[in-house]
Amino acid sequence: MTFVQFDLERWQSVWEHRVRFNLSESGVHPMSLDELLEITDTDPTALSAVRLGYSQSNGTDELRAAIAGLYPGATADNVLVTVGGSEANFIACWSLLGSGEHVAVQVPNYLQIWGIARSAGADVTTFPLRFDRRWDPDLDAMRSAIREDTKLVVVTTPNNPTGHVFSADARRAILDRVQQVGAWLLVDEVYQGAERTGDETESWWGQGQEQYDRVIVTNGLSKAYGLPGLRIGWIVGPPELIASAWQRHDYTVICPSALSDFLAIRVFAARHPILERTRRIIRDNYQVLEPWLRSLEDLFEWQAPDAGAICLVRYRLGMDSIQLVERLREAHDVLLVPGAHVGLTNYLRIGYGDEPGHLRDGLAALKAGMTELAGTEPHASAPVSEPTGVGAGD
Ligand SMILES: Cc1ncc(COP(=O)(O)O)c(C=O)c1O
Repeated sequence: MTFVQFDLERWQSVWEHRVRFNLSESGVHPMSLDELLEITDTDPTALSAVRLGYSQSNGTDELRAAIAGLYPGATADNVLVTVGGSEANFIACWSLLGSGEHVAVQVPNYLQIWGIARSAGADVTTFPLRFDRRWDPDLDAMRSAIREDTKLVVVTTPNNPTGHVFSADARRAILDRVQQVGAWLLVDEVYQGAERTGDETESWWGQGQEQYDRVIVTNGLSKAYGLPGLRIGWIVGPPELIASAWQRHDYTVICPSALSDFLAIRVFAARHPILERTRRIIRDNYQVLEPWLRSLEDLFEWQAPDAGAICLVRYRLGMDSIQLVERLREAHDVLLVPGAHVGLTNYLRIGYGDEPGHLRDGLAALKAGMTELAGTEPHASAPVSEPTGVGAGD
């Protein structure tokens, strides 16, 4: 078995707490426990009284019911509580994928499932999002990537790293194609609720669910809720898939933390103000990021993100993205995600969810680094070619 390293997470695991300016994050500045207790109106003594035993393995009934309430037609039997969206994606894939099975994954993407599938010996085909379509998927490429024998199709919307919310046309076309071949569809919706513009993105759960029940949604509290440290995620899917994923969860983590389950129940009771906090940070901070990007228009091209505290920029330097982020980290103490870690060349992902003052200082350091490199490195004057990325088309 070949193990495929998860380059993006490895890069962050090593450096994110060791740099002055971490602009590699995709979420907003996380809430403190004090803030969470206040916004959820929780008495701290109730938290202190939580017994630190093993919690209900698949999530307490109350928490699963609260999550099910977000998805039309779902009940607690459609829900498994996991340790982060990461575990949700991992055990959903483990339940579905075997060696040699075919998976179609949209890129650029958070390449967790891409890596899991390849590590499991699955046969992975990618289909691209297009910069010139504001990062909506290339539907012809999607239709040919999803084959008669495709077992699983994977999309992330709102998308990481582009911040794009797939159009209604793309949603319809993907659902149609998946149903045509009878594949499973996994939609990672972890940025749902973190919209910079527009309303909350509608879940793909329940879209044509009456006719077709091979749809799985994964999500969690890390991004839109600003609570990655609670490590709460979930899978919503048909009860048989949920039962099979729960069996895998016995191997991976047994159960979520009792403290996190307790707090997550309160989070759903205060969902509206919590999501409002996230959207306020994203809206306000984009006012800091956008003029900064404009001041570097000769170096950068970008599409304004719809959601998430992330902006993907195409740079016009003749330098590989990994070399570029290494130079910026070493010389300027700024951490960014290189395009190579999300399936692209010549791109950088800038996370802008930090506290505004720190964000401004980080952007100033990044500007100094980019300007310096622009003076010394070959400058690609025309926009670089469309991404091929992580084996796009392989
Ligand atoms: C699209 C996507 N899915 C899942 C995750 C994992 O999140 P967590 O395990 O913190 O919920 C991330 C983290 O960046 C992500 O971007």
